[in-house]
Amino acid sequence: MLDAEGRVLSNVIASQTAVHEKYGGVVPELAARAHVTAIDAVVKRALDQAGLSRWEVRGLAVTQGPGLAGALLVGVNYARALSYALDVPLVGVNHLEGHIASAWLAEPTFPARCVVLVVSGGHSHLYHRDEAGTCLLLGCTRDDAAGEAFDKGAQMLGLPYPGGPAIDRVARQGDPAKEAFPRFRAGPKKLEFSFSGLKTALLYKLRDLGGTCPPDRVPDFAAGYQEAIVLSLVETACAALSRTGLSALAVVGGVSANSRLRALLHKRAEQEHIRLALPPLAYCTDNAAMIAAAGRHRLIRNGGRPAQELDVEPTLAVSVVPWH
Ligand code: KG4
Ligand code: ZN
Repeated sequence: MLDAEGRVLSNVIASQTAVHEKYGGVVPELAARAHVTAIDAVVKRALDQAGLSRWEVRGLAVTQGPGLAGALLVGVNYARALSYALDVPLVGVNHLEGHIASAWLAEPTFPARCVVLVVSGGHSHLYHRDEAGTCLLLGCTRDDAAGEAFDKGAQMLGLPYPGGPAIDRVARQGDPAKEAFPRFRAGPKKLEFSFSGLKTALLYKLRDLGGTCPPDRVPDFAAGYQEAIVLSLVETACAALSRTGLSALAVVGGVSANSRLRALLHKRAEQEHIRLALPPLAYCTDNAAMIAAAGRHRLIRNGGRPAQELDVEPTLAVSVVPWH
């Protein structure tokens, strides 16, 4: 929940890690059921922590897409019912627009005109964002998203789900120079990523070792694999700054929680006088505050839509709409 000025009053997250970890990834049907079970209690807890009654709510925001249809349906139907019951406006939010909005949650004075790198389980996208909040796609991944590369790499190394945080943790004990991995380099005019070659390189290295990584070598493998992903993200984001002539960079999405990525970004920002927005960890991975932030701007700008008109859009386009 946010207050009228956009400050976070509560940010309740119902984690489904325990539901999916034994399958090594998200099972759509189980995700939808877990949403049904959790949603009412989550909304109540959000109100309690904010110290508000439901009658004090002035607007509602809900993720409309992109995402798994079953899980989106639970949220959208709940929000529609609540909007009727409380007689407050409802706004649908693009999940990516939410991640982008997270850059301003802890840093409201961060420049509106900037380069944004969204790195999550499904996206590795670079945007040019203007003063009006309109985002133009500069480039994206040719194949896997950065988070997907972390998750698949972790699975191959026998690390637990979710893979990104597991690689991050284990890599701290490793040396990235001991196990070198190939780093994708885009053509001189292109701003893009590719992580499928990296995954194949890991597969071949493991095959040479008989299929599994010896436990004492997992930290070096994790560190080398992580380094290849992270360096590619930092280099390409900096190339986007040079290309656009901008000096403000926001890095958002689950992968922006990665400690090595954060350290390298801070170092680079200091060396090259880049104004950097890296949200606090609670706003990196999927969270309610970022959806509320994007929704609040839309409500101020356009007002809500009648609840009966709002529907899920599981394949909602990546293009991002103005939000100022
Ligand atoms: O934004 P997010 O929570 O959900 C999506 O919109 O996909 O991102 C989840 C992704 C997962 O792939 C997860 O492994 C990755 O973010 N992730 C990390 C870290 N924390 C989460 N990757 C690397 N290092 C981390 N510390
Ligand atoms: Zn996300």
